[in-house]
Amino acid sequence: MDKPFKAIKVTDNVYWVGAIDWGIRDFHGYLTERGTTYNAFLVMADKITLIDTVKPPFRSELLARISSVVDPKEISYVVSNHAEMDHSGSLVEVIDAVKPEKVFASSMGRKALKEHLHLDREIVAVKDGESLSLGNLSLTFLETRMIHWPDNMFSYLAEEKLLFSQDAFGMHLATSQRFADEIDESILEYEGAKYFANILLPFSALVTKLLKKVGELDLPIDIIACDHGPIWREDLGKIIGWYGSWAEQKPTMKVVVTFDTMWHSTAKMAEAIAEGLIAGGAQPKLMPLKSNHRSNVATEVLDAGGLVIGSPTLNNNMYPTVADLLFYLKGLKPKNLVATAFGSYGWSGEAVGQVRGMLEEMKIDLVEGLRLKFVPDGGALEQCFQLGLKVAKDVEKLCG
Ligand code: FEO
Repeated sequence: MDKPFKAIKVTDNVYWVGAIDWGIRDFHGYLTERGTTYNAFLVMADKITLIDTVKPPFRSELLARISSVVDPKEISYVVSNHAEMDHSGSLVEVIDAVKPEKVFASSMGRKALKEHLHLDREIVAVKDGESLSLGNLSLTFLETRMIHWPDNMFSYLAEEKLLFSQDAFGMHLATSQRFADEIDESILEYEGAKYFANILLPFSALVTKLLKKVGELDLPIDIIACDHGPIWREDLGKIIGWYGSWAEQKPTMKVVVTFDTMWHSTAKMAEAIAEGLIAGGAQPKLMPLKSNHRSNVATEVLDAGGLVIGSPTLNNNMYPTVADLLFYLKGLKPKNLVATAFGSYGWSGEAVGQVRGMLEEMKIDLVEGLRLKFVPDGGALEQCFQLGLKVAKDVEKLCG
């Protein structure tokens, strides 16, 4: 039944043995419109080594792909670079099937695996910079704490100049191609940015430090084998450069205008604000929350210089979709933004103040917001236009 699942050769000694999740659309709140992959790798060294596993429903696919190269029982070592369940969730069953001599993880990884899986076996903790001989090949471990869990680490296979980078440099993208150079660059850039914005953004400063550290180590790297999406084997500077600029969160003249609306008044305000933004030299990106998922808004915020959020007042509160977005964005900690709030209301009009309050908590520079009663007329829409102009001017200053 599992026979069609074959390993894909990455180098002479390394095979991709992961799984393709074509159907997933919700990855803990992140809209995965193109599905994802859980990449695991088999190193055919003297000591045959499995790097990571897959999400539990895909365990048999993993074992079938391994079996297309070698009997899984021949595996000596299993390395867990990350304890999150999409990579470790089938570890218990894999250990039962493989019976490896040893299982390795970082010290935090060992702790997390014990707590997640309640494993009844020893896990060897490896240190930052420690090397493990696989006989004819060797792995060196590099801790990457909080990118994006405390346990994360990279494993470097020096003889193949190959970095197993775990979640870093990955993306949620299910395709029939296993290598980035086989995929349209605009898809790679969008899905890579989306992954960064929704998973790694709170840890941007650590990403910058890590890129510097890896640069200083001066490791020859020909291949980056990440745990989601395609493997990088050509033009590695592209993904590394993207990571550098995403981590920097350098503002641009793009302004994300995101809102919900009850009877189209707040939507009308958004459209007038967008006109003011355009007149001021900015590039507004209107994202009504009825048709834009929170994770897609977060993706656009990554390289924006402005964030304009609109909400009507419903039962003395901001609109539920706006609250959802703000709580999500607050956790992601976006930086280098000019922001403001706007909205139409009927009689109490608390929403704009509440949105402002959340933006203040996020420590984002605020422009005075705008709330209007009921349906905006020509004069009211002119106020919206002026707000757009003001935001554009402030974003221009921010961009320097
Ligand atoms: Fe792909 Fe952090 O797990």
